[in-house]
Amino acid sequence: MRIAVPAETRPGERRVAAVPDTVAPLVQAGHVVVVQSGAGAQALSDDESYRAVGAQVVDGDVLAGADVVLHVRPLLPADIARLKPGAVTVGFLSPSAEPDGVRALRDAQVTAFSVELVPRISRAQSMDALTSQALVGGYRCALEAAMRLPRFFPLFMTAAGTVPPARVLVLGAGVAGLQAIATAKRLGAVVEAYDVRPASADEVRSMGATFVQLDLESIEGAGGYAREMGEDRAARQRELLAPFVARSDALITTAAVPGRPAPLLVTREMVAAMKPGSVVVDLAAESGGNVEGSIAGEAIQVGRVIQVGMADAASAMPVDASRLYAKNLTNLLALMVSGDGELVVDLDDEVLAGACVTHAGDVLHEPTRLLLEEGS
Ligand code: NAI
Repeated sequence: MRIAVPAETRPGERRVAAVPDTVAPLVQAGHVVVVQSGAGAQALSDDESYRAVGAQVVDGDVLAGADVVLHVRPLLPADIARLKPGAVTVGFLSPSAEPDGVRALRDAQVTAFSVELVPRISRAQSMDALTSQALVGGYRCALEAAMRLPRFFPLFMTAAGTVPPARVLVLGAGVAGLQAIATAKRLGAVVEAYDVRPASADEVRSMGATFVQLDLESIEGAGGYAREMGEDRAARQRELLAPFVARSDALITTAAVPGRPAPLLVTREMVAAMKPGSVVVDLAAESGGNVEGSIAGEAIQVGRVIQVGMADAASAMPVDASRLYAKNLTNLLALMVSGDGELVVDLDDEVLAGACVTHAGDVLHEPTRLLLEEGS
């Protein structure tokens, strides 16, 4: 089997889909792994480190002739056109945001797996790239807040006086939010958090933070995810959260609803009501923002508050983000390799069926298929 690892070309993307540690077992299993020169450079995996574990490193195109392509961000239609029919791709596909890529994969008869769609069942935990990358994102948010805040996170009792700890409020306590809580706690802040899912209260408390209990019904949808709020509930939630936002020194927002724009949790007025010098870090900025006015990749000033729109948060820590992501991909790939090393895509397997977007000229993922029909 010929497994290709192209260099990522999207601006801001510093991760790579395979690292020497994940390439080595593939080579030992008899596969040919072809890495585009420089693919791992920003994740500190240089060409020599791939060669050392038996990969071929090539300067030009790695896609033509590949049986499997491992990638991070969605491949561009021009790259997809170079793939052979029946090739398998594994990586982020953003099917709703990038329908042209899905069309290109369908038309090229590629079997494309979207890691965003890997079912969240225990068997697939080691393949869950959303989780591994959210962990990095949540960690980065807490560091960003700590670095931008003109005050300490921890309590200090010194001969020159006592400095109280910073108050951090985390909205959205999924994988990224819990990691932001854990990181802010480790740095010594006093942390509060809110989420719409009832199960999150115990998870928040287990991290040593206080769960903000609002007089609102919880909303939980399928698969343990949140559902979108109606506008009335959203407005009431913002109203009830306003005093908690106002008293926090750092606000970190990580709320998301699968397949929908990020919910608006905090208005500009709520930000403006924070104390001078406070910091807002919005991890959801790339998908619309949890905080009004967030711009992905920019830090804006709202009165005397800094509002940071995170962009490429996982890419900001490319070494560990790539290490975890690459392992997710090889674990997923292992489901497609038979005992004698042949590529066998069993679409009766729940994990593969859930993550497969295109196969043999069809779009198998129903919501994406409907989206493409609407757009054509
Ligand atoms: P996510 O990235 O889709 O959303 C982040 C958080 O935002 C969620 O906790 C969600 O409830 C919250 N949220 C949505 N709307 C909100 C609102 N209006 N106000 C406040 N918070 C809001 O979720 P993520 O982090 O991917 O995890 C979602 C669930 O999946 C969690 O229950 C998590 O424990 C579970 N999970 C299960 C896994 C498995 O079984 N393999 C792996 C990872 C997560």
